[in-house]
Amino acid sequence: MPSSTFGSLPQPQSPGNASSESDQPSPQQIFESAMADGVERINQTLATLCPDEGLTEDQLPGAMRFALTCGGKRVRGLLALETAKAYGVGETRALQVACALEALHAYSLVHDDLPAMDNADTRRGLPTLHVQHNEATAILAGDALQALAFQLLADPTTAPQGEVRAELCLGLALASGYQGMCGGQMLDMIAETQPGFDRLTTRRLQARKTGALIAFAVEAGAILGQASAEDRQALRKYADRLGLCFQITDDLLDARADAQTLGKPTGQDAAKGKATFITHYGLEGAEAKAQDLAREAKLCLAPLSVETHFLLHMADFVFERSF
Ligand code: IPE
Ligand code: IPE
Ligand code: MG
Ligand code: MG
Ligand code: MG
Repeated sequence: MPSSTFGSLPQPQSPGNASSESDQPSPQQIFESAMADGVERINQTLATLCPDEGLTEDQLPGAMRFALTCGGKRVRGLLALETAKAYGVGETRALQVACALEALHAYSLVHDDLPAMDNADTRRGLPTLHVQHNEATAILAGDALQALAFQLLADPTTAPQGEVRAELCLGLALASGYQGMCGGQMLDMIAETQPGFDRLTTRRLQARKTGALIAFAVEAGAILGQASAEDRQALRKYADRLGLCFQITDDLLDARADAQTLGKPTGQDAAKGKATFITHYGLEGAEAKAQDLAREAKLCLAPLSVETHFLLHMADFVFERSF
């Protein structure tokens, strides 16, 4: 079952990753430990959001809490958290932005699983929200999670400077709206009934539905940390490649992995006629593209003025992940 434990993280691949005999943790172990720690801190913070008010409509915050806390790799939250920390942002403020990313992502998953979209019965190894409650509750919980994401970014405790908060809200709106995640989801649905998307259109679909939010996760950390224009440009290049790599590996897992390992239905993309890189390049070709993207992403980090250890290893994780 997918969870916030990392027992199945990729094994070290190079001598640089090997543990030395002096018991010093290897770079891979340092990454895994930072990841596990970040996931725990993000999960702890998410669990405190939207508490019950003792009212009849508490079904809604209850459904939101379930969608926020039922597992997940927390890739977007981790990217925001670790990028912000690299620029010296305090953990409490960085976690608020990380949780905004995860709230927006949770909303996108709740709606993605609805019968009108992918009609999925399981997510993160558990029944989806509309199966547990009903469609109306799932739609409203998704809507409210989206609002919660903006609420977290706009909260004065996230950043004392109004312009930083405004830039965060603007960035999330662009990444999640019609030019971002929702636009990509629209293309994804259109592909089911209008097959034959060309490669460029499929790439736009992927970049919008998944790449945009992953790119913003990194950018949000840089905005919060008031990174230089040069650093932000390099991070943008890294994150664009990482986001595309992430969706290709999601599509590869849909084709190759089993539903129990992934915690969600598999084989759905081919069955529904989704447009993916596998459609255009085949399984091995798509895997090669994902590998190239992960390699390119890491190269983009070279000009950065801050520590990039976590982001470098995250590119390997995204390509090599098994869930
Ligand atoms: C799944 O995202 C949906 C996509 C955008 C591909 P994740 O694979 O990040 O899902 P969780 O959060 O780990 O469950
Ligand atoms: C969903 O893509 C992307 C979102 C914006 C939620 P998928 O439909 O491929 O995601 P999974 O495979 O259901 O997680
Ligand atoms: Mg979908
Ligand atoms: Mg889906
Ligand atoms: Mg998928």
